[in-house]
Amino acid sequence: MEHSLFSKPKELFIDIVNPRDYVQIDSVSHMYQNLKSSVQKPLKMILLYGRPGTGKSMLLHKLHHDLSKHQKVFMVDIPIIDENDFLRVLAQKIYGYVNREAITLTTFLELASAVNYPQTPIVLLDEAQLYSSALMEKIRLISDARALKFVITLHKTDDEDIIAKEHFQTRIWESIELQNASPEELKIYIQKKLLKSNCFDVANMINDKNIKIISRLTKGNYRDANKLMFSLFSLYAWFEEHHPSKINYNSLKPKYIEMAAIHTGLIHA
Ligand SMILES: Nc1ncnc2c1ncn2[C@@H]1O[C@H](COP(=O)(O)OP(=O)(O)OP(=O)(O)O)[C@@H](O)[C@H]1O
Ligand SMILES: [Mg+2]
Repeated sequence: MEHSLFSKPKELFIDIVNPRDYVQIDSVSHMYQNLKSSVQKPLKMILLYGRPGTGKSMLLHKLHHDLSKHQKVFMVDIPIIDENDFLRVLAQKIYGYVNREAITLTTFLELASAVNYPQTPIVLLDEAQLYSSALMEKIRLISDARALKFVITLHKTDDEDIIAKEHFQTRIWESIELQNASPEELKIYIQKKLLKSNCFDVANMINDKNIKIISRLTKGNYRDANKLMFSLFSLYAWFEEHHPSKINYNSLKPKYIEMAAIHTGLIHA
């Protein structure tokens, strides 16, 4: 399998978040630029929201990666749901607080005013739907005191409209909604990912008809697209090893795309 034409493409679609793998898609890049300038405005809190798999964590990691070259940024990718731990960890990471005891909000704000950063440190909170309202209120107070600037991501679900919740309704929130990709965007996503890694032959196999099918099956969701492409290239790698004559290198076979979709549970056999 080492020399398979499809082993590299397969790896590219493993569903992980790494800012180095960020692909520029016009609408997303536009949002990202807005996000980057919003972050420098005082007092606003920024909310990135959207359905699972729309790229929230990816944007947050990219922001972390880009901003940390110039200023203090701290990323909390696994929520710290205990209120005491939350303040202590932040104090530790941002102000070098070494004590292991819990700290109050007042102590926290005192620490903040004692340390002078040229720019307000930025804290990125992924999966913020897991934080309690009480903790969200503390986060708002810290932001109001201009001690820290927060960017948070939030899951949007069908049954619960979290954005409608009271504390996100106030004007301090600037919200950015991420969407699934359109067929054109999905094409750019898949092609750019392959081309960035010099997988030209495989990129050439994907025609507009193929994209239409992939787009219909995944509804343009990046995570589902990753899973589908991973499964599809695994299938191609298998054929290449066992039945190379079954592969047409001019285009992807719709039948194989559907087999991969069944395998990933996107459609039922
Ligand atoms: N602009 C992009 N460039 C490259 N990969 C991307 C981009 N946007 C999304 N992805 C890919 O899509 C996958 C899903 O994105 P991500 O994990 O950021 O979604 P999410 O909105 O955080 O989902 P959840 O709500 O479930 O946490 C990621 O693993 C990543 O590989
Ligand atoms: Mg996420």
